[in-house]
Amino acid sequence: MERSPEWILLLFLLSLGHGFPPWEDRNALIEKENSRRVGGSIIFGEREKEANRNLMRIKSDEMSQAAATGVFPPSMHFFKARRLIQQSKVFKILRKMPKGGALHLHDFAIVSVDWLVKNASYLPDCYICFTGSAVRFIFSKPSPVGQLLSGCSDWQLLETYRKTMPDVTEFDNSLIRNLTLLTDTPELDYPTQDVIWRRFEGAFIAAGGLICYAPVFKAYIYESLQELYEDGIQYLELRTMLLPVYELDGTIHDPSWLVDTYRDVARQFMNTHPDFMGLKIIYTVHRHEDVSKVKDAIHTAIQLISDFPDTFAGFDLVGQEDAGHSLYQLRDALNIPSQKGFTLPYFFHAGETSWLGMDVDQNVLDALLLNTSRIGHGYALLKHPVAREMSLKMNVPLEICPISNQVLLLVSDLRNHPAAALLADGHPLVISSDDPSVFGAQGLSYDFYEVFMGFGGMEADLKTLKQLVLNSINYSSLSAEEKDKFMEMWQKNWDKFIEDLASETWGDSQ
Ligand SMILES: *[C@@H]1O[C@H](CO)[C@@H](O)[C@H](O)[C@H]1NC(C)=O
Ligand SMILES: *[C@@H]1O[C@H](CO)[C@@H](O)[C@H](O)[C@H]1NC(C)=O
Ligand SMILES: *[C@@H]1O[C@H](CO)[C@@H](O)[C@H](O)[C@H]1NC(C)=O
Ligand SMILES: *[C@@H]1O[C@H](CO)[C@@H](O)[C@H](O)[C@H]1NC(C)=O
Ligand SMILES: [Zn+2]
Repeated sequence: MERSPEWILLLFLLSLGHGFPPWEDRNALIEKENSRRVGGSIIFGEREKEANRNLMRIKSDEMSQAAATGVFPPSMHFFKARRLIQQSKVFKILRKMPKGGALHLHDFAIVSVDWLVKNASYLPDCYICFTGSAVRFIFSKPSPVGQLLSGCSDWQLLETYRKTMPDVTEFDNSLIRNLTLLTDTPELDYPTQDVIWRRFEGAFIAAGGLICYAPVFKAYIYESLQELYEDGIQYLELRTMLLPVYELDGTIHDPSWLVDTYRDVARQFMNTHPDFMGLKIIYTVHRHEDVSKVKDAIHTAIQLISDFPDTFAGFDLVGQEDAGHSLYQLRDALNIPSQKGFTLPYFFHAGETSWLGMDVDQNVLDALLLNTSRIGHGYALLKHPVAREMSLKMNVPLEICPISNQVLLLVSDLRNHPAAALLADGHPLVISSDDPSVFGAQGLSYDFYEVFMGFGGMEADLKTLKQLVLNSINYSSLSAEEKDKFMEMWQKNWDKFIEDLASETWGDSQ
């Protein structure tokens, strides 16, 4: 039964005459907190209740063990927690859970990098150069030898270069390390946010040489969808910079070709995976660009959304927020659509900062003033009560990417992530993974694990998970009819998942 705050206050006041503290209200107050949590208003059917009991029993075992040993993956750096998470039964269940849509992922950071090195870099005509601590790739015919890239050695044909390597596996592993941030000693290798952001963007540039080659580009999109699908994801909203894609002879494709190709490959994937809903594009530019560059990008976005209304969802800015322009500094560009009376949906990264009161710290407020559809991260939102109220009133969800926030040094123990408080208070949230391949994660499962165990502790249950998944459908850019269809296709997979969990297919037997 829903009890209003006035009712509880009245009880409290009445109880003052009968002894203090009013213990008889304790259960009602706890119940009230439970109902406020994300998922608190969901009503479960019998099989879901059974499934929830099984899940919570398994979770409870893992939490008790963590409390007894002090070893709790969400409190550890993800690079160290990764293997422990893989052994967790809760994680294995989350891997199977139908997760709806992935709404915050970046173009070059989805497919496990093993594929880039072991497959893409073994294609013919792949060249490599060395910058000292990093590498760059290019596919070219004729040979690019002699056309030096600034700061890089001359190009070497990889096929020939590998033959000179005493240990090719070790060499390939070094390439894999170039494309991720993984290390056993993150605190030594990444002492500051600036250091890790430089390495992070370096990994993107290195991967870009491989991914922007047209044949690899098409295969990469397909592999991305495959990897997400295997993680229980049925839809993708992809942030992409639409960087030029090239052919072997140096021919360059424009943004329109890229959007068209994304659409084609997604359709191809849907032909063989009928319960996949497809993909939409959020065009992004780097926030270090000046107003005139961002104006150009806005005009490109307006053109693309007109040409591809079903595939192109909107616009965003990317890159280290603290080091880039604030939304307010870019307002002359970002105001253009509304001045023209044109709707260009925004999906701003905002509040991915720990620096309270600096210029970029107002990005959460400015994103809302600019009528953003969702907020990427919103890590700083909790410190801005008015912006928080606005996001609630405007029904603008945050896209929470816990592992990204930890690896990029906003928070170390994920139990202390600000969104844990928002989860407890029923704020609109979706869970995503930002750049899983660069962090050594996959799909959304690792981030769901961190949220379920770390943010939610013993309070979050299957209802919390179900609401987060429903949110990913509800807050997507799909049309109302598409959402209905998505909900229907997701429901089938959810029912099957619930049946397996309720009948303990993965219970104590594994
Ligand atoms: C690598 O490429 C080959 C052929 O190009 C393909 O048969 C194989 O499935 C690919 N492997 C992976 C892991 O994608
Ligand atoms: C990148 O690869 C090169 C070539 O093998 C290697 O020398 C370098 O150490 C690698 N960088 C990282 C960060 O592992
Ligand atoms: C805000 O954005 C939504 C979704 O893009 C749009 O439908 C609406 O018209 C916009 N409102 C204003 C005031 O621009
Ligand atoms: C979807 O969002 C609307 C508000 O935008 C809300 O009323 C509705 O309950 C939500 N549906 C689900 C299934 O979460
Ligand atoms: Zn992001």
